[in-house]
Amino acid sequence: MRFGYFDDERREYVITSPQTPLPWINYLGVEDFFTLVSNTAGGYSFYRDARLRRLTRYRYNNCPLDADGFHFYIKEGENVWNPGWQPVQAELDSYRCRHGLGYTVIEGAKNGLRASQEMFNPLGEHCLLIRLKVTNETALAKRFSIFPFIEFCLWDAVDDSTNFQRNYSTGEVEVTENAIYHKTEYRERRDHYAVFWADRKPDGFDTSREAFIGVYGSPAHPAAVFGTGCTGSTAHGWQPVAAQQFDLELAPGESTSLLFGLGYIENGHSAKWAAPGIINKEKAERMIAAWTDDSAFDAGLQALHVYWNSLLMKFRVSSGEEKLDRMVNIWNQYQCMVTFNMSRSASYFESGTGRGMGFRDSCQDLLGFVHMIPERARERILDIAATQFPDGSAYHQYQPLTKKGNLDIGSGFNDDPLWLIAAVDAYLRETGDWEILEEPVDFDNDPALAQPLVEHLRRSFSYTETHLGPHGLPLIGRADWNDCLNLNCFSEHPGESFQTSGPSEGPVAESVFIAGMFVKYGRAWAEILRHIEKANEARAAEQSVEAVEAAVLNAGWDGEWFRRAYDAFGHVVGGRECEEGQIFIEPQGMCVMAGIGKSTGEAEKALASVRERLDTKYGIVLLQPPYTRYHTELGEISSYPPGYKENAAIFCHNNPWIVCAETELGHGDRAFEVYTRTAPAFIEDISEIHRTEPYVYSQMIAGKDAPGFGEGKNSWLTGTAAWTFVSISQAILGIKPTLDGLQIDPCIPSSLQHFSITRRYRGAVYVIDVENPDAVQHGVREIFLDGSLFPGTVLPVQKEGKEVRVRVIMG
Ligand code: BGC
Ligand code: NOJ
Repeated sequence: MRFGYFDDERREYVITSPQTPLPWINYLGVEDFFTLVSNTAGGYSFYRDARLRRLTRYRYNNCPLDADGFHFYIKEGENVWNPGWQPVQAELDSYRCRHGLGYTVIEGAKNGLRASQEMFNPLGEHCLLIRLKVTNETALAKRFSIFPFIEFCLWDAVDDSTNFQRNYSTGEVEVTENAIYHKTEYRERRDHYAVFWADRKPDGFDTSREAFIGVYGSPAHPAAVFGTGCTGSTAHGWQPVAAQQFDLELAPGESTSLLFGLGYIENGHSAKWAAPGIINKEKAERMIAAWTDDSAFDAGLQALHVYWNSLLMKFRVSSGEEKLDRMVNIWNQYQCMVTFNMSRSASYFESGTGRGMGFRDSCQDLLGFVHMIPERARERILDIAATQFPDGSAYHQYQPLTKKGNLDIGSGFNDDPLWLIAAVDAYLRETGDWEILEEPVDFDNDPALAQPLVEHLRRSFSYTETHLGPHGLPLIGRADWNDCLNLNCFSEHPGESFQTSGPSEGPVAESVFIAGMFVKYGRAWAEILRHIEKANEARAAEQSVEAVEAAVLNAGWDGEWFRRAYDAFGHVVGGRECEEGQIFIEPQGMCVMAGIGKSTGEAEKALASVRERLDTKYGIVLLQPPYTRYHTELGEISSYPPGYKENAAIFCHNNPWIVCAETELGHGDRAFEVYTRTAPAFIEDISEIHRTEPYVYSQMIAGKDAPGFGEGKNSWLTGTAAWTFVSISQAILGIKPTLDGLQIDPCIPSSLQHFSITRRYRGAVYVIDVENPDAVQHGVREIFLDGSLFPGTVLPVQKEGKEVRVRVIMG
């Protein structure tokens, strides 16, 4: 069942029922000021850090769900309703929510009154703008009132939801003619405040939640709205809010627009006050003045469209398969940018109060957006590398505000260092910016330890090279990509971290997955070394890679598939002798992507085993059979009930690894089949089962062993976005940036006869037409570059600004 439809022309998903299976959200903002907004106008805003600078309050895991947000109450006579249905939940005569790129429009109508609520965060400003347009669609004049309502968060979202003994006494506001200023803690150490404004003077306001909602009221039934209107309250302590009242009258057919904003202002300590106790509002007043007419609002929205156009222009496909095109051209790339901006901090599943930026996560996210904004990828690489330890290991996370490694979690996730090579390799392939390798970058954020970036890569490689276990495979440490495979942990007490409670440097437990990574990214490292004329070092690196490759084929091969690991006692994990967890997806994907066993048959067998043992109609599960009991020697993976999360869910992130692996072997039909199983647009029809947004990937879909088979969770912030973009754009459609130019090497379903791609690459535009007259899956017979036959498949780098035509004939 569907709850909306894609409008590709406008690049929107249009939701037609407010009662979606879960709140379906969008992200507004691209730089520092962000808003999460659901299809019923739930959500919150924050500046930079979703924990430390939370502007509005959001109660996670609330009941009813998603009641806090950016709501407008409309009251006509005794009738009270919201254009987005929540929180009053009055039945609407019509409803639509359009989630577009960086903006959302929610439109509801009741009794002949139509209200549309347009929202976006303008580029270059620290604010959210909302335009409420109301139209009287009847033949009679209408009188009604409108009440916007938001609840302020007292900045630190964790403190805000825990430290009530203090919070209930600190809240402060100031009210001016059109605006409500939230200035809690401004009297002491803060020099920032929030402001909610309207483009006109309201007929009433409230800043105390008790006054507006009522002590025992709820957002579904605010006392002021259902009673006699706003009371003019000033919050002292308790819960500061911004609520206003506008009494309006509209003639038949008449419309009016009201403009609102929620801004964040930093004054600096020397410019805090206008007068004793009165905040300096100069910057806020400038911001308000800039956004209080319709044409400014329209221009801001237009600038956002231009911005997104320029990003999405970098890669466009036209394949005749509408679902594929909409995923590639719009939603997959959009999700890549959102994951780049948010890492894993703020979604409807990530509360914004927990994790910092993941070393591994951020490196992988980069694979999906490097073509859109290479400059920001560069900056991100340097930030991440600066948190690396001098021995090449890495802090598992770092904090976005300080950019410092996070001591609580520390290091010891032994895949981390190799992801840095993956990220830099992708950056070099995209940009050819070899100078980045010479950039001095701190180790452990200590400028005294700075070395050129290339030295960071060297140490990443050598960390793995020098941390091999008894079978010559890399030691796993606290975990590898699978955070839940904790082979050195043995946690037995509730509340302990599964990852950090045991000895991290176990000398026995080994990872076949990291071995696969070492082969894949070790070869990439050797190629980089050759480019910078370090041929001897490259050869030495390749020898180490070959030794690990041999270890994989020896100790990491189970007969029909690649084993997963060896535990701390030297027992096989992910082998046929295991009682549970006999086969895992990760090493099949990574080892085949690395080319291991490609010429000797193991790769074919491994992928056949995936198909036979891990396939389901909704995607490929992570392992089989699932763990039915807790294994202390394996850790968190066995803590999840069967079919959920790492314990045999369809973990979407590693499905594209199988897609890439299948294309390594030339299996275009199968690669595309795997791609479509989890691609949101392809499963839109089962939205009632999948439940999460049909326009973005979720981290996981419940596996076949779970009661909720097919149900998605943890939508939006997942490495799935980046890896899927790699799998479809590079592995299937075959547009592969290399160190020397753009390679064209598609591996497609044989039924696809023709597709074209526009790719902006290193300043030039490649307009590529691929024909598949013999219905093959793989193989390039001829390439014509601007009409002339071109030898090979790697197109040379073109002059800045040049546009070339490329005709590719498969066969
Ligand atoms: C989740 C993993 C995640 C980890 C982060 C675990 O509970 O299952 O998916 O990577 O937490 O620490
Ligand atoms: C989610 C984490 O963000 C990611 O780093 C990890 O690789 C996967 N879970 C698998 O555990």
